[in-house]
Amino acid sequence: MGLKEILRGKLSEEELKILPRSFDIIGSREKAVAIIEIPEELKGKEKIVAEGIMKLNKNVKSVLKKASERKGIERLREYELLAGDENTEVVHKEYNYWLKLDPRKVYFSPREATERQRIASKVKNGEKVLVMFSGVAPFCIAIAKKKNVKVYGVEINEEAHRYARINVGMNGLSDKIILVRGDAREVCPRIKEKFDRIIMPLPFGSENFLDVALKCIKKGGIIHFYTLGSEENLYEDGIKVIESEAKKSKKKVEILEKRKVLPYAPRRWKVCIDFKVL
Ligand SMILES: C[S@@+](CC[C@H](N)C(=O)[O-])C[C@H]1O[C@@H](n2cnc3c(N)ncnc32)[C@H](O)[C@@H]1O
Repeated sequence: MGLKEILRGKLSEEELKILPRSFDIIGSREKAVAIIEIPEELKGKEKIVAEGIMKLNKNVKSVLKKASERKGIERLREYELLAGDENTEVVHKEYNYWLKLDPRKVYFSPREATERQRIASKVKNGEKVLVMFSGVAPFCIAIAKKKNVKVYGVEINEEAHRYARINVGMNGLSDKIILVRGDAREVCPRIKEKFDRIIMPLPFGSENFLDVALKCIKKGGIIHFYTLGSEENLYEDGIKVIESEAKKSKKKVEILEKRKVLPYAPRRWKVCIDFKVL
């Protein structure tokens, strides 16, 4: 049975047609949170929809409605609790690791799990890796679960850093991952390591940190740079800023790969550009 069938009789046929088709579920089989976007036309019926989602997915204990765009440096958004438990902290299972988090306090997207695996499979044993905007540490953990490496994670949001520490411990990776709280601009150069690989998962603004990444990368190292691109010009702006920052840092770069990661907004994509620093 689907959501439509559960809500038949409670909503009109017109309203059933505009129900959200998909939504994110973060958590486990025991406790999860659903995050939904509801069209304006269903205003006043949101609680009914939320209760339907909880009936359909027995593990969903809270339903949150997106109430703003992501904003600020911590990339958080406002949510409205439509139904269920006020406590929205969950433990999310992704591949072979667990992540504790509260989606109301930290950035996390379950849709990026495949991208994390893609990066993790590129890493080679023995590498020193830096994740510049590490959040609750999903990249750090995905990499350290797969490979014999040392990973540094730098995060400015205190809550995300707190969860990251719990997650590293919970996955038994304390000997492989070092977490530092603070602004990547100040923290990364202070680490006094040169890295084989740097991951920059901050699509909205990572270009402002390319100079730092170029300072911290080893000769021959690889940077995974996330940015936004418009449908008709996916990579051009990203490549331009990489080349201009490299020039300022007196370094040469070679673009290795570029690809779409996920849709970001109508006709806008989150993209990743991988490049080598020669
Ligand atoms: C798009 S989220 C990605 C988080 C994580 N890597 C993930 O994949 O779930 C970007 C993260 O960068 C953090 N951030 C933003 N500016 C920062 C800075 N200057 N230094 C360190 N972290 C920063 C935000 O708090 C946020 O958690």
